[in-house]
Amino acid sequence: MINYAIVGCGHIANKHIEAIEKIDQASLVAICDTNPERLNQYMEQTGAEGYSSIDEMLERQSNIDVVCICTPSGLHAPLAVKAAKAGKHLIIEKPLALTIGDADAIAAAVKSSGVKAAVVHPNRYRPAIKQLKSALEQNMFGKISHVNATVRWNRGQAYYDQAPWRGTKAMDGGVLMNQAVHNLDLLQWLFGNVVQVKSMVDTRIRAIEAEDVAVATLRFESGALGIVEAATTIYDKNLEESISVFGEKGYAIIGGVTANWIKQWKCESMGDEAIDLLKQEVEANPYGVSGHQQIIEDMIAAIRDDREPVVTVEDGKAAVQLVIDIVQDGSVVPQIN
Ligand SMILES: NC(=O)c1ccc[n+]([C@@H]2O[C@H](COP(=O)([O-])OP(=O)(O)OC[C@H]3O[C@@H](n4cnc5c(N)ncnc54)[C@H](O)[C@@H]3O)[C@@H](O)[C@H]2O)c1
Repeated sequence: MINYAIVGCGHIANKHIEAIEKIDQASLVAICDTNPERLNQYMEQTGAEGYSSIDEMLERQSNIDVVCICTPSGLHAPLAVKAAKAGKHLIIEKPLALTIGDADAIAAAVKSSGVKAAVVHPNRYRPAIKQLKSALEQNMFGKISHVNATVRWNRGQAYYDQAPWRGTKAMDGGVLMNQAVHNLDLLQWLFGNVVQVKSMVDTRIRAIEAEDVAVATLRFESGALGIVEAATTIYDKNLEESISVFGEKGYAIIGGVTANWIKQWKCESMGDEAIDLLKQEVEANPYGVSGHQQIIEDMIAAIRDDREPVVTVEDGKAAVQLVIDIVQDGSVVPQIN
């Protein structure tokens, strides 16, 4: 049995709780939140021991194996470092951190303590995305000319106003760091490292400090080009999330309101019947087993087999680095008279 603790009992903590409940070898033994109302509510809901500070939790409860960090993003690093130094394995919500200094501090603490650490990029486990990954591993689309990631979502002002950390540069970041970081992780996982970025970002509609819209062009190590469009400004609800790839022997578009569906798929090596079967297979179960559950299960296997988790701290840092590069390049605004 692997004992889990959750630090930060907000929206996403529920996904961790649901997942831990579904896994026979996992048990939730402790939770921690600085907000007493939240803490009481989650203690009642889960029956786990509750703590108002991570220090107290780490000091008093010795049976914790893994700590899930589910606080505002800017707090991931200091809390993860404390837990790692206490010898706890880590599951850290996305984004890993908001700065490279913080990402490196987590990596150093994980290395020196010899603990396992995974970052929550659950979109890698979507059935349609897994099919795309497998097709790319088989080089099914041939030489790639270009790829595309689109996030046309709505996060209204009420979303940002629900907590003071949302939309701030120090605690949250904008649409790239909070929402599109999933898609930037997918782009590099599927197509390799990005080596060049040209971009524009701005805060057009929401009253927030960080960007609410971003457009970027990318060049991958392979030579393939990429386009990113990400916005939380779309009227008046989520419209589209998609990943597309165009190669000399085929193309695929994984899309829908969330990128869970095969919208287009054509390639030299697959007949129409095989493609229809592939689409039907995904449509029969487009969401699959929750990514959170698979990441928590993967941690159990990583501990048992003494191996790295599937989504590593290095992967988390690579996605954060790409966000930072896009924001940095795109924040230069010319003087307009
Ligand atoms: N993987 C995903 O798909 C996904 C989805 C949503 C959010 N997230 C990530 O999860 C994190 C939390 O987001 P949320 O929407 O649950 O936020 P939230 O505001 O709903 O919850 C955060 C909780 O952390 C608590 N907290 C703050 N400081 C703390 C501290 N020092 N110690 C203990 N608890 C503390 C707050 O009181 C709050 O209850 C963010 O990093 C976000 O990017 C990931």
